[in-house]
Amino acid sequence: MLKSLMGALVATTVLGAAPAFADELSIVAGSIGKDIEELRGQLDAFEKASGHTVKIVTMPASTTDQFGQYRLWLSAGNKDVDVYRTDVIWAPQLATNFVDLTEAMKDVVGQHSASVIASQTVDGKLVAMPLYADAPALYYRKDLLEKYGKTVPATWAELTATAQEIQDKERAGGNAQMNGFVFQGAAYEGLTCDALEWIVSDGGGQIVSPEGEITVNNAKAAAALDRARGWIGTIAPAGVTGYMEEETRGVWQTGNAVFMRNWPYAFPLGNGDDSPIKGKFDAAPLPAGDGGTSAACLGGWNVAVSEYSEHKPAAIELVKFLTSAEAQKQRALGTARLPTIASVYDDPEIQEKQPLVAKWKTVFENATPRPSAPTKAKYNEVSQQFWTAVNRTLSGQGDGATNLDALEKQLRRLKRSGW
Ligand code: GLC
Repeated sequence: MLKSLMGALVATTVLGAAPAFADELSIVAGSIGKDIEELRGQLDAFEKASGHTVKIVTMPASTTDQFGQYRLWLSAGNKDVDVYRTDVIWAPQLATNFVDLTEAMKDVVGQHSASVIASQTVDGKLVAMPLYADAPALYYRKDLLEKYGKTVPATWAELTATAQEIQDKERAGGNAQMNGFVFQGAAYEGLTCDALEWIVSDGGGQIVSPEGEITVNNAKAAAALDRARGWIGTIAPAGVTGYMEEETRGVWQTGNAVFMRNWPYAFPLGNGDDSPIKGKFDAAPLPAGDGGTSAACLGGWNVAVSEYSEHKPAAIELVKFLTSAEAQKQRALGTARLPTIASVYDDPEIQEKQPLVAKWKTVFENATPRPSAPTKAKYNEVSQQFWTAVNRTLSGQGDGATNLDALEKQLRRLKRSGW
């Protein structure tokens, strides 16, 4: 059955054969860019091939809000949701609520990135299968860099100077809405990603080391946060402390930013027929910090089957379908979501139609994970305390050193009962 499903997607033919029992499944997923539209397309293919039906329960865009809702549903043993679309950081926290996929995926699991599979494996249990990986880019306006004779910034210092100069000159020329740089500064998980990048690129560590040591309270990390604080109200709008991915993209895609930090999904959207910046931008790895390296936070989304589902076999079929090489290829072609199956990057169609995806394989492979593995079930609280300290710094409520000192004490309290 599953083999024929895969074949059906590959050949995009309709099997038409209804299974003995047609299940009504539901999948819950957050909405960013065209993710829901893209998911619906794949679910339609699954429905045709399998005879099952699948409904989408749409969540808010913020991964933090989704996590809160999922935790409530799962702790209540909710039977209405069969498949959860899960963030890469959640596996250790939600593991007990999901079905072990080890046996069902044994023939395909080896195709995927070993480190992503490891991140979804908790005490030997394969909690979720990867839909796609995420690794951010520095988006830049080619036309504006050319107009002012600038190159793509290789360091944060260069980015700061170039953003300021172009913003000032554009504003002086009558373009009052222009901003130098936009990123995710709101108090939520996305800020943990952005700030981890600033700190790692300065050589300030990963908040909590892979061995579980709290390392965040150091001078390099503090300097990285102070540098970002310096962007607020200068090259970045004051409102950036409330921006998530889509607010960031909104400013960028209307043509009002020179630089943007965002995930690959923003690339095809920016080149859409309705986009004012179509053809005017490109993307590069994020700038390096004082540590001399560029750091990209490892993101990505997976699918997991609820332990409380009354349709587990069909839900597992769906997971297999959505995470197959062909589904990952279609997702990459449609929305530039990065495959976790290495061979998909070599596909000539990907190389031709989604060059960013082809270029981003090494950025993904070298991306820095958030400390969800060492902090296990406490990760969400660790991250929340971290993003709060960062957001306070960005908002001018204490400098980097003061806020990281307080953060270290909070994290020590949290660790007292063990990670
Ligand atoms: C992206 C990433 C995800 C991360 C989130 C933060 O969706 O894929 O891993 O947690 O952004 O906003």
